[in-house]
Amino acid sequence: MIQHKPVLLNEIVKFFDNLTSDKEKIFGDFTLGFGGHSEEILKNFPNVKLIGIDRDIETLKIAKEKLSNFKERVSYYQLSFGDFDKVLNIKFDGVLLDLGVNSMQLISNERGFSFNSQSKLDMRMDRTQELSAWEVVNYYPPQELERVFREYADVKYPKRIVQAIIRARQKKKIDTCKELNDIINSFFKRRGRINPATKFFQAIRIEVNNELEELKKFLEKIWSFLNIGARLAIISFHSLEDRIVKYAFKRDGVKILTKKPITPSYEEIKQNPRARSAKLRVCEWQGF
Ligand SMILES: C[S@@+](CC[C@H](N)C(=O)[O-])C[C@H]1O[C@@H](n2cnc3c(N)ncnc32)[C@H](O)[C@@H]1O
Repeated sequence: MIQHKPVLLNEIVKFFDNLTSDKEKIFGDFTLGFGGHSEEILKNFPNVKLIGIDRDIETLKIAKEKLSNFKERVSYYQLSFGDFDKVLNIKFDGVLLDLGVNSMQLISNERGFSFNSQSKLDMRMDRTQELSAWEVVNYYPPQELERVFREYADVKYPKRIVQAIIRARQKKKIDTCKELNDIINSFFKRRGRINPATKFFQAIRIEVNNELEELKKFLEKIWSFLNIGARLAIISFHSLEDRIVKYAFKRDGVKILTKKPITPSYEEIKQNPRARSAKLRVCEWQGF
């Protein structure tokens, strides 16, 4: 089974020490993934009931198996966290967002996220949605592709790469991740360990899953669903996400518990390179 190492796990458990109680506490893991963080929360806080949300039905199946020992304490929902209020009308004592993708999505040959794979470009976390990376790469007008790369990959002059994509797709559709990877890499002399295509792939993924808008939607609504004293923790992996979180926490009723974002230790990054860009911000809700 594919492993997913939860990022900043000890720190997360520590920040949710408000869940220590004789009474029932409600914890929302809105990016359940494989349930790594949630498992630790359930073990450490016996009175916690967990609401687990993930957009990806295949991921939810894996989480259900992993958390099967806690059956009565967990309920599962397949939806985007930006829409949580369409389904849930309860108040939480703790909510966690651990943004981005899980290891299965990233390395699976069928999901079309990874630049090395021969699989069809896809990148949808929810495979019932229509827009996929294949449509973005093959049908977005040049100006839209430039916007995606400029805004989400922070590329100042994306025109040349976009033109190469347009030229390639006029000859034949760009079907696989590998084909797109080759087009992008033809512009770069490979340096260091990080594939230059990484940020372009991430930008397309952000577009396909509407990731920043979902985060903004969530942050506009969550406050009315928090009990006083509830904690909200968000782990982001992209500076745009971190900025959205930072500004959303600057509001009445919020006490910030992390003046500066918490980042993983050198040791953690050595064991789990995916953690290298993680930033954790935590706040406590004090009421309207
Ligand atoms: C980094 S993983 C979470 C890993 C998890 N904390 C663990 O320890 O196993 C992020 C997960 O969030 C899910 N996800 C991303 N955006 C989402 C959204 N808008 N709504 C619901 N789930 C989302 C992804 O499908 C993925 O499974």
